[in-house]
Amino acid sequence: MAEDLINNKDIYFPSYLGTNDKLITLLNRTSQTLCDWFSKADKNGPLPFDESFKCIMPAEDGNSEEDLFSEIESLLNNSFNPVHPGSLAHLDPPPLIFSILGDLIAAGLNNNLLAYELSPSVTLLEESLCKWFAKKLGFNDFSGGIAASGGTLSNLNALIAARNNAGLGTNPNSVLLVSEDAHSSFVKCIRVMGLDTTNLVRIKTDNQGRMDINDLRKSLDKCSIENKKIFAIVATLGTTVRGAIDPIKEISEICKKRNIWLHIDGSIGGIFAITSIPIEGLNNINQANSITINPQKIIGITKTSSLLLVSNMSTLENTFNTGLPYISSKENIINRGEIGIQGSRPAEVIKLWLGLRFLGLNGIENILKSSIKRKDFFIKNISNNKFDIYSGPLHIVSFLPKKLEPKDSDGWTQTKVNELINNNFMLSRPKFKGKYFLRVVMGNYNTKESHIKELLRLLNA
Ligand SMILES: Cc1ncc(COP(=O)(O)O)c(C=O)c1O
Repeated sequence: MAEDLINNKDIYFPSYLGTNDKLITLLNRTSQTLCDWFSKADKNGPLPFDESFKCIMPAEDGNSEEDLFSEIESLLNNSFNPVHPGSLAHLDPPPLIFSILGDLIAAGLNNNLLAYELSPSVTLLEESLCKWFAKKLGFNDFSGGIAASGGTLSNLNALIAARNNAGLGTNPNSVLLVSEDAHSSFVKCIRVMGLDTTNLVRIKTDNQGRMDINDLRKSLDKCSIENKKIFAIVATLGTTVRGAIDPIKEISEICKKRNIWLHIDGSIGGIFAITSIPIEGLNNINQANSITINPQKIIGITKTSSLLLVSNMSTLENTFNTGLPYISSKENIINRGEIGIQGSRPAEVIKLWLGLRFLGLNGIENILKSSIKRKDFFIKNISNNKFDIYSGPLHIVSFLPKKLEPKDSDGWTQTKVNELINNNFMLSRPKFKGKYFLRVVMGNYNTKESHIKELLRLLNA
């Protein structure tokens, strides 16, 4: 019947008949184009090299394959290239091969995590994988979780559940406590939750960048005098600028005693907790009510891939369940659009699952250990007569020349970033405690000792 209704000469969609030869040809060509781009990285550096990119918009008629492949190439040539060994600026490592394949499968499946009937196998996979992670982190049988598109959204899911759990849904006096080095997304979360910055209490950090427990105690007392209602305390497991880990054990004891929800933002460091790598301060995380982990940031699961894990799944169900009147439900299976903010959602879990299955625990550990080794090598060899160095137990280092005035840090870091990129090293320049720093993130598996030596030579020169 389809032949009667449309002109079937052009292929718009995969066919349910025959061999899909055309699609196979196009997929092969696309794979070749992508792989060519990867392999050109060495020559071209981490940042765009071809300034000719034009954003061409759709026209009256569709474009030819040749036009489209030439535009794809131009797009690639003007993109940040995470596989280049000098890509050391951010928490954006090279993509894992099996994760790339997972993304392809997810796109082709086009299933929807909103509901079981739209994604039967993937719903079960996401549920099981969240439970697996939750158990690995030490949670019990009531635990589980939900995937979301990024750490910000996982944190937001947690905070909304925490506020709901505390019965503070619409209370304008409700407050959230985070350290002064916590990620900026908490400001966004607070705004989205209808609150403002006065509802975000910042706790001081110590000289290692960890939440100061004395200041936390003082702030808790102050909140209670001012009749502010605390719906959660966030402990960061890996701060963005220096990779510090808040004192989770002490914070969890305070939360238990005062019956406050503990959320751990493990966007950067959470994944270490499923391995046996000894990381100072990484203990007692199973005392939390919720934990964000964001495997896109360090082991190379392709973006976006973030999980919120909770010690008790009923907290998510109670918070987000609305009923989906247009969707069928199946006994004992939760439609995953009913336990988080997002409705329709792609099958992102496939790339996480395939990536993890491919690596195994040993592979994950190997990637994480190598990032710490690179960080250690860098710190050992950077001139500490010349630079003040800010780093913690994870793989991130921020640094600045000693005695540089805050007003000079802007110019110095800008000049240095430009100089480094001309030598194919991409570092970032976060603003931190009123100054700009240079930051190196050692999560790139392609970065070898020789590359770090060259980076150090440029920095120490
Ligand atoms: C500690 C921390 N939390 C949360 C986030 C936000 O994650 P996303 O960018 O995936 O939303 C980041 C981003 O770098 C981060 O470093």
